[in-house]
Amino acid sequence: MIADLRKLNLTGNPFEDFELLDETLSRTKLDEHAQLFKDREKIAQLLLFGVTSSSSYKVVLHGEAGVGKSSLLNKVLHDLRQAGYFGIKYRVNVVSAEDVNLFERELLRTFGEEIVREARRSHGFLEHLRSIVQLEKRNDLRHFSVLALLYSCGQVTVREGKVDAKGLSATVGLPFLQAQVSEQEQNQIEVTTVGIPSHLTFEQLLRDGVSLLKELDYKGVVIAIDEIDKLEKKLEARIVTLVKDTFYPTGLCHVILVMKDQNERQPIHPDVFTYESVYPLPKRNVTEFLEELYKGKAFDRYKPLTSIIDQKLLNEICEENKGIIRRILKDLRACVLRALISGKTFIDRQVYEETKASDELQAYLLSLKPNEVEYKILLYLSERGETYARDKDLSKLTEREKSALSQRLHELETRGLLISKKRRKNRIFSIDPILHGRVKSVIV
Ligand SMILES: Nc1ncnc2c1ncn2[C@@H]1O[C@H](COP(=O)(O)OP(=O)(O)OP(=O)(O)O)[C@@H](O)[C@H]1O
Ligand SMILES: [Mg+2]
Repeated sequence: MIADLRKLNLTGNPFEDFELLDETLSRTKLDEHAQLFKDREKIAQLLLFGVTSSSSYKVVLHGEAGVGKSSLLNKVLHDLRQAGYFGIKYRVNVVSAEDVNLFERELLRTFGEEIVREARRSHGFLEHLRSIVQLEKRNDLRHFSVLALLYSCGQVTVREGKVDAKGLSATVGLPFLQAQVSEQEQNQIEVTTVGIPSHLTFEQLLRDGVSLLKELDYKGVVIAIDEIDKLEKKLEARIVTLVKDTFYPTGLCHVILVMKDQNERQPIHPDVFTYESVYPLPKRNVTEFLEELYKGKAFDRYKPLTSIIDQKLLNEICEENKGIIRRILKDLRACVLRALISGKTFIDRQVYEETKASDELQAYLLSLKPNEVEYKILLYLSERGETYARDKDLSKLTEREKSALSQRLHELETRGLLISKKRRKNRIFSIDPILHGRVKSVIV
């Protein structure tokens, strides 16, 4: 059975959650996202001024989960690139958060990827890269850094130790460098194995890469690291390494760090970083954003959002979620789904309450432990289909008498997990068919 979205004037669920203005998007998508991006003028200006008015601006953007920090960062990087800056954005992930070497290697890889992206955007830059890759023109040791960065992101590979200099797909790499550089050069640069560059090499590569870029007419280089809160306990040490050792002494580039607000997290080097809060968007902007998302998926674009959802309810959802867009989107997505399941043409309070009830059910199911009676009843029902209070097998499985069983079955029915019908003298219980899949996914 395929849901009839048309009943809600939709071609799909409009309330998807995605980061805006990610640099890897196509031109058309970026334009679409620029339309969707609302407000943030003040803080965006502040960050732009911070960068453009100094040689090394260092800032931490922080705020609640899902408030729009990454999208803001993307927007600022986008504007800075337009203004002639070279921007690198790296997002910490759970794996790199655990391993300093991996973190450093991934940052280098991202740097390399950004170089490649920039080469695709700018012909002049591409030509410059080509000349770096051509060995006979290589006259600056820092060129090795760029090669190494490109190598880190898989753009430079080794093939029989030879160079095949066709622009970005040239076949050179770190091992190749070791083989090709003169003895004198070898003494000056530390060429490391591909696996784990030392911290010193990491810093050197970053610094050289950045300083070379700066000489190519870029107004400056901005290194942005998103989700640094993932770095957990060792965060302090890594940020110190990164900022102090790599960038601080020379004021070589700008650093923007992004983190979620967390209790008891001590600020990282408040003496070095400026801290800026990212607040929830004003309601007016949130509504405008939702309206545009809806229009993108509406059959009839002339019908407003309030033709499918109660205005008061919409306001309430925004308020209950304190303007945090990710949470608002989650609630609205659930409302659309619930309305579709119930065949409704309008999202009213009843639909919303049903979604909340369903969230509660999920939480309840997840809280059940395999040794609990309720868990055993649900397991039994998902295998056998139905039961009743005098069911001997169930009594044996749960080690409960029929009166106790009867009470538990009724409780599960009141919670909305079971339905029942009368058959002769007995009340027969089964799992609500709508919830069958959900119960099965939790109770195994
Ligand atoms: N300025 C904005 N205008 C409209 N919508 C926005 C804006 N910024 C973010 N959003 C929307 O808010 C949601 C959350 O955005 P984003 O991922 O940037 O938040 P975040 O704070 O980085 O989240 P996290 O804490 O998980 O990293 C996304 O669905 C995004 O489309
Ligand atoms: Mg984010």
